[in-house]
Amino acid sequence: MRVLVIGGTGFVGRPVVRRLAAMGHEVAVFHRGETVGEGGSEGAVLHLLGDRRNLADYTPDFRAFAPEVVVDIVPLTEADARLVADTVRGVSRRLVAVSSQDVYLAYGRLTGLEPGPPLPVPLAEGAPLRSRLHPYRSQGGSYKNYEKILVERVVMGTPDLDGTVLRLPMVYGPGDRQHRLHRYLRAMDTGSPTIALQADLAGWRWSRGYVDNVALAVAMAAVDDRAAGRIYNVAEPDALSMEEWVRAVGEATGWSGSVVRVPRDELPEDERTSMFTEQDLVADTTAIRGELGYREDIPRVAALRLTVAWERANPPPQGGPA
Ligand SMILES: NC(=O)c1ccc[n+]([C@@H]2O[C@H](COP(=O)([O-])OP(=O)(O)OC[C@H]3O[C@@H](n4cnc5c(N)ncnc54)[C@H](OP(=O)(O)O)[C@@H]3O)[C@@H](O)[C@H]2O)c1
Repeated sequence: MRVLVIGGTGFVGRPVVRRLAAMGHEVAVFHRGETVGEGGSEGAVLHLLGDRRNLADYTPDFRAFAPEVVVDIVPLTEADARLVADTVRGVSRRLVAVSSQDVYLAYGRLTGLEPGPPLPVPLAEGAPLRSRLHPYRSQGGSYKNYEKILVERVVMGTPDLDGTVLRLPMVYGPGDRQHRLHRYLRAMDTGSPTIALQADLAGWRWSRGYVDNVALAVAMAAVDDRAAGRIYNVAEPDALSMEEWVRAVGEATGWSGSVVRVPRDELPEDERTSMFTEQDLVADTTAIRGELGYREDIPRVAALRLTVAWERANPPPQGGPA
């Protein structure tokens, strides 16, 4: 199958391209050329260089490649999705977009954006979505207009284009610019006998996914026509609590210390959370497993070892928390 991947050279995109190429598909990647991405070693990967803000200018290149499916790894705003959908409509029959589990109302509860009683988990794809849009608007910058709910509406609602949406969890793995393991790893590697977690955070459950497994899910949905018109959660089948997660990281590093639960006001400012942790963020992944046969092929233990090795070799700038 010919697959065009928009933004396929970053943290999530690069392993998606690697997975597609390894499955034997013909892959073209559209990006600016600021990041390198996969070469031709695992299959024919064509690099089309350009800026997605002018995506329509590259329509002749897309037509020449004639993709059967287009995967947009990084649609962040409604305008991003609209431009992609309008450009690839008539070029490809399917559009697959990477979304996030922050679309759920439960995320609004967790962050306090939409106060109310905690909602039951796990969240299936039909669970209620936030009614307040633009969750990161107050942060300004490039995420001001970020809204995956609007991205999804465009992808699933464009005539003559079969949409598929993958809602991702917290993604960890080599290349994670957020360095989500770093804080714990730094404490473990400096021999700290304990790691303190805010008491109410320790039991909070959050769906996670290892980047290469998440990439497999995206690749499988991209090349399977049964995914047309479908929205899928992607995540590990069991969502660890924060305390279980820190312990799992500890096992991957050989750390023999213990996690201690500490009241919020006894923690340093940068280790406190103001999230409403009575709201877990746990996704139900039955649909993608049942309909497409998705299974992680890298177990969590191995995934964490690979992530730890990468974190040690690539600490965040200044070695501080990212
Ligand atoms: N990480 C998580 O925990 C998490 C959780 C939920 C959802 N997600 C979703 O997963 C996706 C993240 O993907 P990622 O981590 O692979 O992103 P990334 O590392 O930021 O990669 C961005 C990609 O887009 C290309 N790009 C950036 N600006 C461009 C432009 N103006 N024109 C053309 N290409 C451009 C980059 O290549 P060049 O630099 O060469 O242009 C690169 O290929 C997002 O949709 C995010 O919302 C992530």
